[in-house]
Amino acid sequence: MEKQCVLVTGGAGYIGSHTAVELIAAGYDVVIADDLSNSDLRAVEGVRRITGVEVPFEQVDCCDREALGRLFRQYRFDSVIHFAASKAVGESVHEPLKYYRNNLTSFLNVVELMRATGRPNIVFSSSCTVYGEADAQPVTERTPRKPATSPYGNTKQMCEDVLRDAVAAYEGLRGIALRYFNPIGAHPSALIGEQPQGMPQNLVPYVTQTAAGIRECLSIFGDDYPTPDGSNIRDYIDVTDLARAHVAAIRRMCGGARRADYEVFNIGTGRGVSVLELVRRFEQVNGVKVNHRIVGRREGDIVAIWADPTLANEVLGWRAERTLDQTLASAWAWQKHLCGME
Ligand code: UD1
Repeated sequence: MEKQCVLVTGGAGYIGSHTAVELIAAGYDVVIADDLSNSDLRAVEGVRRITGVEVPFEQVDCCDREALGRLFRQYRFDSVIHFAASKAVGESVHEPLKYYRNNLTSFLNVVELMRATGRPNIVFSSSCTVYGEADAQPVTERTPRKPATSPYGNTKQMCEDVLRDAVAAYEGLRGIALRYFNPIGAHPSALIGEQPQGMPQNLVPYVTQTAAGIRECLSIFGDDYPTPDGSNIRDYIDVTDLARAHVAAIRRMCGGARRADYEVFNIGTGRGVSVLELVRRFEQVNGVKVNHRIVGRREGDIVAIWADPTLANEVLGWRAERTLDQTLASAWAWQKHLCGME
């Protein structure tokens, strides 16, 4: 059978590069498209080294309809996984128009081109942020979405709606939205991982940079939340496990099984871990010290959220496999690789 071809937009980014590796390992042809605005060609090199496949890379801004159209004429994509988007929650509050333009335009272009070229399968990178501060934990896919608390979160909700409505209206279009919980860690080879530009906004890159001495001290945003140790609770999912969920989604759409045209899945471990617990485990597993202090709450943070991943377990046949300790070890191995510390 001819190999299926998957377009990975944002494939030079953190989750996109890990997904490209897993797709190739599963036997798919992959084309990476990325504008490199918040990513690095070294990630593409890493994908090539891990897989031994000279995966094609195209520097394209998905907001550029003409350029994206040329890409669709050049290759015959069966499926697209759309990662290309701006993702800093805080920045989105200060530059909402950038977020609406970038995240909505690029996704509209991708969906329109898939439809125009008769290509059916679209996977969208969504986020647990769509649940906001849910009334009960863990959240299932039936937990009602709350009004978004940032333009970033709003673009995730809007793109989910775009995909739902498009597959309802256009015969032959299929869509899956994967709601990621908190992706962390790096590929076990330490050849690809998260590469934040400038000051890290997310917890684990800040932890690893502090352990490496790049940052003096990690600020923990609040220890007076109504949780057992007072710090926020999240569901930290290994990025390679998360990447495999995309392969499962593509398989479901490409395979013969009957499926609904639009589906949503939580991609998390099902386990809530507090910020303090995560920092402690990181120190223990890696035998390093992470200087930290408690500071005030960060605006917009929700108290606690973790996934009920049952639907993904049952329908996609996917489950998180790596332990938190393995993942935290991989995050540290990657940081050491970046700093030349090995
Ligand atoms: C949020 C969104 C997530 C989105 C991500 C994009 C929610 C629940 N999650 O993740 O969907 O994809 O932003 O960036 O809306 N922390 C510190 N010190 C730090 C950094 C973080 O204490 O220096 C704490 C935060 O207060 C939070 C936890 O660590 O409790 C995780 O924070 P972060 O990694 O930024 O992710 P979220 O805000 O959970």
